[in-house]
Amino acid sequence: MTENHTLTVRDNRTGEEYELPITDGTIRAGDLGKIGKTEDEPGLAVYDPGFTNTASTRSSVTFIDGDKGILEYRGYPIEQLAEKSTFLEVAYLLIHGELPTKEQHDQWVHEITFHTFVHENVKSLMQGFRYDAHPMGMLLSSVGALSTFYPEARNISDPTVRHEQVVRMIAKMPTLGAWSFRHAQGKPYVYPDNDLSYTENFLSMLFKMSEPKYDPDPRLAKALDVLLILHADHEQNCSTNAVRSVGSSQVDPYSAVSAGIAALYGPLHGGANEAVLKMLKRIGSKENIPAFIEGVKNGDEKLMGFGHRVYKNYDPRATIIKKACDDVFEVTGVNPLLEIAQELEKIALEDEYFVKRKLYPNVDFYSGLIYEALQFPPEMFTVLFAIGRTPGWLAQWSELVDDKEQKIARPKQIYTGDRRLEFVPAAERWANES
Ligand code: SDX
Repeated sequence: MTENHTLTVRDNRTGEEYELPITDGTIRAGDLGKIGKTEDEPGLAVYDPGFTNTASTRSSVTFIDGDKGILEYRGYPIEQLAEKSTFLEVAYLLIHGELPTKEQHDQWVHEITFHTFVHENVKSLMQGFRYDAHPMGMLLSSVGALSTFYPEARNISDPTVRHEQVVRMIAKMPTLGAWSFRHAQGKPYVYPDNDLSYTENFLSMLFKMSEPKYDPDPRLAKALDVLLILHADHEQNCSTNAVRSVGSSQVDPYSAVSAGIAALYGPLHGGANEAVLKMLKRIGSKENIPAFIEGVKNGDEKLMGFGHRVYKNYDPRATIIKKACDDVFEVTGVNPLLEIAQELEKIALEDEYFVKRKLYPNVDFYSGLIYEALQFPPEMFTVLFAIGRTPGWLAQWSELVDDKEQKIARPKQIYTGDRRLEFVPAAERWANES
């Protein structure tokens, strides 16, 4: 390949030629805008529904190589972080861009531990939901509501104010998630226990009953910590794009993150883990798998937990989660749906329909099996995903705020509607109706 990193474009409508610089494997849409631009005509734009081939930002937070199944947070391979780090250390890495010293780590853990409480009014807000409200609806509402308790958060240009909101959101997400779970169960809300670690405290707020102090199983707390690490960031996924797009209007981070939670809620994104469990239960037995697969190939439905916009190979997180299943099932007993999931994966990976489309298990295919074994109902699975993704959303939002190249998100469109119609007032229109 030559050193001449340019694209020569010939506009055959005019015979004009243009030299467009190629930078980091991209051309700037603005340079395309020069092609065919006249007094009356706008220049060329890019039409890319779902942004399948559009870079929206520069970022140093997460690297993914979809063909090789590589995922790195700030350059560290996910396999090493999942095995050797903790969720709060990974959260520090994502937010600050480097691993903490002991003093920085201890200060970070202390700050987060002592910000786990939420204002009592948030509890009243949550108690206003119906008994069967979906926890994700409660989470996105209560995180958005936090913006009204910390009005100073709108001062996004102040790094100290930003740091305070980042700590608050990472600290309070488990409290809000646990309380949405307790609400759905009709059980009293459990307050944070600052003697416990981040995931132990989360388990306490979820499952503590009449005992004076919750005694978390360290193996389950560890498994949950690994799952949170695996969900912590994933470059410009749908919900991160939502956080960045809403954040580009310079709104406070609580409002931007509540938009991310809303995007994550969808079954094509974070809601897939809940959909996988329901799909496995609907299949019910290994004997029903061939008929189900035929239905997918006929386009009746999707194989939830399979496929990915970026990974055209096995999602490295799915590999790690599959291994974590063994650790959890040692404590809880094997989830009977595991056998159906494994058989479904085996059949799909040998079937031309999935092979041709490079559809492999993604992070959501096995995570639900662990969550269910940990006694979470399917409606809580995406709440767990949101708690894990919070440091990633906040790292990406902080990067957006500091990025001098960023502007308010406002895409173009291709207009397909009517033009210049003559408006007839309602009285005249209706008088002529037969
Ligand atoms: C997450 O982006 C991220 O990084 C997300 C995430 C993160 O950490 O933030 O990794 C988390 O959201 C994981 C994905 C969870 N979603 C699911 O498991 C839902 C099922 N998967 C699909 O809906 C789909 O694979 C997506 C949404 C994940 C990706 O969709 P794309 O990239 O837009 O791909 P596509 O829909 O254009 O599919 C290409 C082809 C199509 O077939 P043809 O039209 O070419 O015949 O593959 C087919 C699709 O119909 N296809 C599937 C399928 N996924 C894609 N067919 C059956 N089952 C599936 N799961």
